[in-house]
Amino acid sequence: MDIEQLKKEIARIEADAQTEIDRTETVDALRGLETRLVGKKGPLGSLIGAIKEYPPEQRGQVGQTVNAAKGRVQALVETRLRQLRSAASEAEARKVAQFDPTLPGPVEPMGAVHPVTAVQWEIERIFERMGFTVEQGPEMEEEYNNFEALNIPATHPARDMQDTFWLTNGKVLRTHTSPVQHRAMIKFGAPLRIIAPGRCFRYETLDASHENTFHQVEGLMVDKNISIPNLIAMAKTLLTEVMKREVEVRVRPGFFPFVEPGIEIDMNCEICGGSGCATCKHSGWIEILPAGMVHPNVLRAGRIDPEEYTGFAFGLGLTRLAMMKYGIRDIRVLNAGDIRPIVSPRRLGGPIVSEA
Ligand code: DAH
Repeated sequence: MDIEQLKKEIARIEADAQTEIDRTETVDALRGLETRLVGKKGPLGSLIGAIKEYPPEQRGQVGQTVNAAKGRVQALVETRLRQLRSAASEAEARKVAQFDPTLPGPVEPMGAVHPVTAVQWEIERIFERMGFTVEQGPEMEEEYNNFEALNIPATHPARDMQDTFWLTNGKVLRTHTSPVQHRAMIKFGAPLRIIAPGRCFRYETLDASHENTFHQVEGLMVDKNISIPNLIAMAKTLLTEVMKREVEVRVRPGFFPFVEPGIEIDMNCEICGGSGCATCKHSGWIEILPAGMVHPNVLRAGRIDPEEYTGFAFGLGLTRLAMMKYGIRDIRVLNAGDIRPIVSPRRLGGPIVSEA
């Protein structure tokens, strides 16, 4: 190719470059194109590569011609770059102009953890520190697990203490969290330490202290040489931590078919401190924690040898405890989903008082 042809070729290359550069829409695309156009393997680069084919006296002129063209292509790139950048900042400016500060902001979700859930979480943390696992059982339970496995045979009068919802599939809505004791024994064997928080159901007439749906936390510890003092120590620790005060407990005998002996652990009344008020029926004590030593029949049903192991169990009324802790006087507000009777859903730390 002689010099004249070379110049024509360069003009064509530049014209093509111009078209391609103008077509780019982004800075990145433009940068990519630039590398391709002015790189060694690009159209101008290969002209430089062919410089050896010219007679020595022409090589200087060829070099200059091609390099000048390269400079012009680079200038085209710079121009396009400035255009793209200013378009981008205009778009940004338009966005800012569209912002309307008078529009309402994003809606912040409102609400708070339910008092029963808050106490449940707290209790789970306390027991986890004492080496207990948190277990769950189904709300729709086998009749066997809810009764027989807990030493309550079909004819036992204790069945009358729990007015049960019987389901058409032969199962029951669990009347307590105690069936999880049996499930845990089968699942883990001995030794074991579990708590099982959850919802329970009874066919009750509703009033300020009775609900058909309420929460309990079951506890079970089975090991060698477990005795009543372990149980009482645990109860005191638990109640003191939840109530955030030094709780006094007293122990009375109580009857539950799944424990022997069975006891009732009471705490001194939250409202009057023990001097007597309407909440504690003027006794100064609140029934809070039925418990006992696991009955040998219950251990046997759970495939644990009662000659080798003993254990304690308890059934904490979680709903009751939450009501005590937060000063809620009517159990029905807890399931109502109506936050009006509650002073402030955000003040979970403080007392929540019902209107009634
Ligand atoms: N399941 C009993 C109830 O709901 C409460 C209970 C009492 C649970 C004594 C226990 C226990 O584990 O040892 O009335």
